[in-house]
Amino acid sequence: MFPGAQHLQNFHPLVIHFPIALLMGAALLYMAASLLKSDRFAQSAFVVLVLGALSLVVAVATGLYAEQGVMVHLSVRTQLLAPHKRLMLVTSGLCTVLTGWAIAVRPFPKKGRPLFLLLLLVMIGVMTVGADFGGRMVYDYNAGGSACRQPIQFTK
Ligand code: HEM
Repeated sequence: MFPGAQHLQNFHPLVIHFPIALLMGAALLYMAASLLKSDRFAQSAFVVLVLGALSLVVAVATGLYAEQGVMVHLSVRTQLLAPHKRLMLVTSGLCTVLTGWAIAVRPFPKKGRPLFLLLLLVMIGVMTVGADFGGRMVYDYNAGGSACRQPIQFTK
């Protein structure tokens, strides 16, 4: 039924776009809620943040599973997989703090709001750099793919 997905070595690439899209969406909505002083935007931002956090748990779990079996050269593991994992774990830590904070005073903290918004931006920045490492593993070194022979040694 899905010949593209059939060639995947693990589920990680199927789930990672959810936290990326949802957490970026939550940050945008919280920014809009702050600028427009809108409760409706804040409510939407809260729901999207919680969904993003849940999907992040799935992405981390599938990533940790993928790490065991993905066919990449040891040099690619050290240069790309290790920083990818580290940055995604930092993203998860920040996301846990932000989601816990938002749940405690839902939907949008009043006290410490600038810090909340700043941490959201930091989380998005860390996640973006981390995802780029993931992309390099796949598109430069054929991680999880069967388009060419593995393993490819890290060169750049
Ligand atoms: C901390 C645990 C994580 C580990 C150990 C991990 C590991 C991996 C591995 C081994 C790959 C290579 C592709 C494959 O799976 O076959 C990969 C790709 C990727 N990962 Fe992760 N990952 C983790 C968390 C995340 C999270 C939380 C996200 C998103 C928020 C993410 C985003 C990506 C992206 C964008 C790619 C490139 C996939 C593609 O373009 O097809 N990873 N990751």
